[in-house]
Amino acid sequence: MADMTDTRTEIERFKTNAKLFSSLDAAGVGRLADIARKITYKPNETIVEQGAAADTFFIIVQGGVRVITDRHDEDKKVARLGIGGFFGEMGILNDEPRSATIRAIGDTRCLVFDKADVLAVFEDYPQILHGLGSIGVERGGKLVDAQEE
Ligand code: CMP
Repeated sequence: MADMTDTRTEIERFKTNAKLFSSLDAAGVGRLADIARKITYKPNETIVEQGAAADTFFIIVQGGVRVITDRHDEDKKVARLGIGGFFGEMGILNDEPRSATIRAIGDTRCLVFDKADVLAVFEDYPQILHGLGSIGVERGGKLVDAQEE
């Protein structure tokens, strides 16, 4: 059963997929494993709603998601994230509402972290914190382009 996979192992796997997290040592992996909640989403389920308050960060361990933004009252797909992907960094780092809607593509499992807990870990890994900030800026730029297209 996939759900039986140890959270620590899942975070180790994630680390090998997401270069940004390569500076995470065993202690950091353990700290993240301690605060992770595992949540499973059904195909097409909304995980994050554009405009909602942002208090969680997500790592995708199974399945994938679509990143969608409103454009002239229509949904527009901006990106797709799969295993090893992560989202929610923009809201938690910038103290801003969710910049986009995130929907599960198929059955999707995420590790979900509360903002204060995960920021406390990331603050001890400045490379991760800065990297997430840069990725957020880059993603935000693409989002604006998509909304203006
Ligand atoms: P947040 O704004 O908290 O919630 C929506 C998330 O969608 C956002 O954080 C990013 O993690 C993600 N996101 C926004 N724009 C993009 C993009 N262009 N590519 C990939 N992910 C994005």
